[in-house]
Amino acid sequence: MSGHGTPIPMTSRACGPLQGAAQVPGDKSISHRALILGALSVGETRITGLLEGEDVLDTAKAMRAFGAEVTRDDDGMWHVHGVGVGGFAEPGHVIDCGNSGTGVRLIMGAMATCPISATFTGDASLNSRPMARVTDPLALFGTQSVGRAGGRLPMTIVGAADPVPVHYVVPVPSAQVKSAVLLAGLNAPGQTVVIEKEATRDHTERMLAGFGAEITTEVTDEGRVISLTGRPELRPQTIVVPRDPSSAAFPVCAALIVPGSDVLVPNIGLNPTRAGLFETLREMGADLTYENLREEGGEPVADLRARYSPALRGIEVPPARAASMIDEYPVLSVVAAFATGATVMRGVKELRVKESDRIAAMATGLRLNGVTVEDGPDWWTVHGLGHGNVPGGATCASHLDHRIAMSFMVLGMATQSPVSVDDGSPIATSFPIFEPLMAGLGAQIERVGA
Ligand code: S3P
Repeated sequence: MSGHGTPIPMTSRACGPLQGAAQVPGDKSISHRALILGALSVGETRITGLLEGEDVLDTAKAMRAFGAEVTRDDDGMWHVHGVGVGGFAEPGHVIDCGNSGTGVRLIMGAMATCPISATFTGDASLNSRPMARVTDPLALFGTQSVGRAGGRLPMTIVGAADPVPVHYVVPVPSAQVKSAVLLAGLNAPGQTVVIEKEATRDHTERMLAGFGAEITTEVTDEGRVISLTGRPELRPQTIVVPRDPSSAAFPVCAALIVPGSDVLVPNIGLNPTRAGLFETLREMGADLTYENLREEGGEPVADLRARYSPALRGIEVPPARAASMIDEYPVLSVVAAFATGATVMRGVKELRVKESDRIAAMATGLRLNGVTVEDGPDWWTVHGLGHGNVPGGATCASHLDHRIAMSFMVLGMATQSPVSVDDGSPIATSFPIFEPLMAGLGAQIERVGA
């Protein structure tokens, strides 16, 4: 598990053109949900393309601990024999969700209306992240929780034996919170209603409908009003997980900044609640095209083609787009360093409570590498130096955060001097094949001392 083992320092240096096809792994958000909803249906759910990163493997282990049978066959297909809505058994041990905020928050929701208790923990990053955003709405169902000061893990959740449905307006733009409430609502009789003012990723709603739940979304003046009828019988599904746009972001952004590059990233999920980065890059002047746009398993999918883009311009990223690219700001800030002019990112307070404080982590590392960055509580600005002008040369802290580690590795591919991270091991949480995949395109990333 990342952060529990030996740190893996890594260095990335300027390389020749990146070329070829990058087969990035399955979508992390969809993979967690496929395992959890599979565990809540009666019968066998089959999943292909599941992300086999540490975060998702921890969720698979957790589903076993709650009584589901979860196996992988030699062809890479996952089989989940679920226990049905309300059928979770009490785990016989502490549930360790590793580095995964999505894993722990969704699982807390899924067990919150079952008459069982469970204790959750994670690595140092996860144990420092706020959980009250989930336990507050779960308390409305009748769920109890006891954690550390500030609502931190380790934490025990006592599920509601006699849950009531809830009506909840999500106070922060968070798909994790929305999903936790919806998953808890599954085992509450009657209608659970969740309202979000800003649209966040909607994989839970789409997948619940696919598993046969009665769920509707209405766009009103209040925001998106999502209504779920409790106690459905979920029907097992065959799920093909699309490839992860958040992982695609790394080879795409690398191709834009490395001279001469031309990279194809096939089969990328382009759900509009996830695709904000690509729109932003195009506004910055990126040579990024969608080829073969189609629909697969209820999600829009395309092949992304990214080519070296020497004339990138800094822009003001519309705050309304933040939720649709929340995990991509770190790597966007790297691209912004190679643009001309300032890239201003506002309305991004949530970045401060991710696997790390991502504004602080990126601002500090970019400054060490010669880039001017300003930041405030919910905004930051990167002053681009233009192609060929970013010095590099520094070692950055990854703070147990996969996306910070990968972003600095992308930075080093086009800086004057190599860029290092103190620990690349967290990359395995979401993108275990990052190093061989980038090497296959022509990148030069080395494990220091290996
Ligand atoms: C996720 C939602 C996002 C995102 C995370 C995955 C999900 O978090 O940052 O990596 O799968 O629901 P928030 O919903 O808390 O913003």
